[in-house]
Amino acid sequence: MNIHNKNIVITGAANGIGYALAKRIIQESPKSISLIDISSSVNDVARSMNADSYVVDVSNENDFQSVLNSIIDKNNSIDLFCSNAGIQQFGTLETSTSDWQKNWDVNVMSHIHAAKVLIPHMQKQGSGYIMLTVSAAGLLNMPGAIAYATTKHAAMGLAENLSIMYGDDGIKVSALCPQLVDTDMVRSFGKLPENHPLLKDGLLSADVVAEEAIHGINEEKFLILPHKEVAKYIQGKAFDYDAWIEAVRKLVP
Ligand SMILES: NC(=O)c1ccc[n+]([C@@H]2O[C@H](COP(=O)([O-])OP(=O)(O)OC[C@H]3O[C@@H](n4cnc5c(N)ncnc54)[C@H](O)[C@@H]3O)[C@@H](O)[C@H]2O)c1
Repeated sequence: MNIHNKNIVITGAANGIGYALAKRIIQESPKSISLIDISSSVNDVARSMNADSYVVDVSNENDFQSVLNSIIDKNNSIDLFCSNAGIQQFGTLETSTSDWQKNWDVNVMSHIHAAKVLIPHMQKQGSGYIMLTVSAAGLLNMPGAIAYATTKHAAMGLAENLSIMYGDDGIKVSALCPQLVDTDMVRSFGKLPENHPLLKDGLLSADVVAEEAIHGINEEKFLILPHKEVAKYIQGKAFDYDAWIEAVRKLVP
């Protein structure tokens, strides 16, 4: 898909990967760009790019869907929706039920709230593109982050299902699955030791990830892997699941 002259929406656009996507997409001269975030700093980001901004919690079904409907009313169309907002937390069995629910609501349900508005809209217009920012943790798990890894697997299943079900209606879907990216999310982990296994394949900048995402969208690739090693790891996992579990167990902090 060529982004030029298209109507674009990005969630989680106040920071990190969402902000980098907005900066990169602006260079393609879209028809409109609408930025969504729970943080009101998205208004400053949007002002700096001549974009529209909406402060909303994407896990709130009514509020989020009414923002999406008002963007469609204003611009007549959403051509590319980057469903990027997400949260991360470490923890294992001590993760409380309310934290599980929060991870589920933001990392999974937000995409579903959006799809319920966008799929019928894109079916009507005969085309559209949805990119979900998932994570390599949705393909390869993440030791010590049980709620994040589990909800990102669910998001991956959702991306696959949307593509399977609506691809024949002209709707393209991509899953953006980076490993570590240098954003506030990762900075909140504190300083990781240089030999930490999570750093093995490098900490990419959000700008590099955005560039890879745009390349993947241009090529209409379902799976976008900014860290190329991930493709090899998925193959290893599929080839011998038990050996893969054994190897990942060694990475447990
Ligand atoms: N940073 C990484 O290493 C990494 C790796 C793989 C995947 N991801 C995924 O990339 C996406 C973006 O993460 P990031 O690293 O840029 O993090 P970030 O924390 O820098 O940015 C996330 C943005 O989402 C917004 N947000 C969070 N909850 C929201 C909600 N309920 N409603 C609306 N906005 C909300 C935040 O305010 C923030 O602006 C997430 O889905 C994350 O899981 C990140």
